[in-house]
Amino acid sequence: MKNPHTLDLGMKSELYKKIIHYSEVKSTNDIAMDLAEQGVEEGTVVVADTQTEGRGRAGRTWSSPVGGLWFTIILRPDIEPVYAHQITFAASIAVTTAIGNLRGLQAQIKWPNDILIKEKKVGGILLEIATSGSTVEYLVVGIGLNLTVDPHHFPPEVSNIATSIASNLRPGTKISRDEILRSILREFEVYYQLLKQKGFRHIIQKWKGMSNIVGREIRVDDPPNEPMEGKVVDIDTTGALLIRTSKNAVLRVVSGTVTIVERSDWPWPIRVPSVPFPFPKGKD
Ligand code: BTN
Repeated sequence: MKNPHTLDLGMKSELYKKIIHYSEVKSTNDIAMDLAEQGVEEGTVVVADTQTEGRGRAGRTWSSPVGGLWFTIILRPDIEPVYAHQITFAASIAVTTAIGNLRGLQAQIKWPNDILIKEKKVGGILLEIATSGSTVEYLVVGIGLNLTVDPHHFPPEVSNIATSIASNLRPGTKISRDEILRSILREFEVYYQLLKQKGFRHIIQKWKGMSNIVGREIRVDDPPNEPMEGKVVDIDTTGALLIRTSKNAVLRVVSGTVTIVERSDWPWPIRVPSVPFPFPKGKD
């Protein structure tokens, strides 16, 4: 853990209290959880130039050299743990929107929260949570976005499926980490407030328009369960995937790693049903 200092992004915000920048950490999620344990306020952000032990979903290592945006937001929402995953949906919308603000780049979300550009992964989100009884004490939203790291420098198992912001822009385009961080933080504040004030159905509706998954044939790996295959027919109001198998059964998938096995024949953007969702405000 090296050289912490406060980063001033010149933001006016009700959410963000302090952005702490480190040149090197094991994981910004670890630092954020330590700070949260010590009682820092909601809206504290930890950002690092590099992580030596960056973590991804499902216990994977997250390679985090200089050239990426690696940061974590500390939150203290007044919710039950079962609703915490809703915040990752808000975060994936924020990252995707912020990328879109960058000179016309179009990103998409692969369920549940991989950020893709042209079908390759450019970023991901890892939410970790501390509970006390049946409430969330705090949670941390860790976001990783590859800005300029050449995907060939990643480990072989990810280099073919990874991309960077830089490799999708004209060579020589200047990329400012702080500008992208500011943009993601701004967007996240918008969607976090929307989630708290209007409920998850508004988030899911927006998320569907950014997702690449409905209508596609996928495989879901979620060991120790057997892999499942089927066509995604929808995302339900809780954020779960609904897939139709070859035996015409519709299965509900709440966790796992998705691999797309066939291209979409679904009209894009995805149509969102106009029927009201039957969940109470703030708890859906
Ligand atoms: C994924 O597997 O897609 C999630 C990757 C999340 C990586 C970020 S980088 C900042 C924060 N610190 C970590 O150790 N992980 C998250």
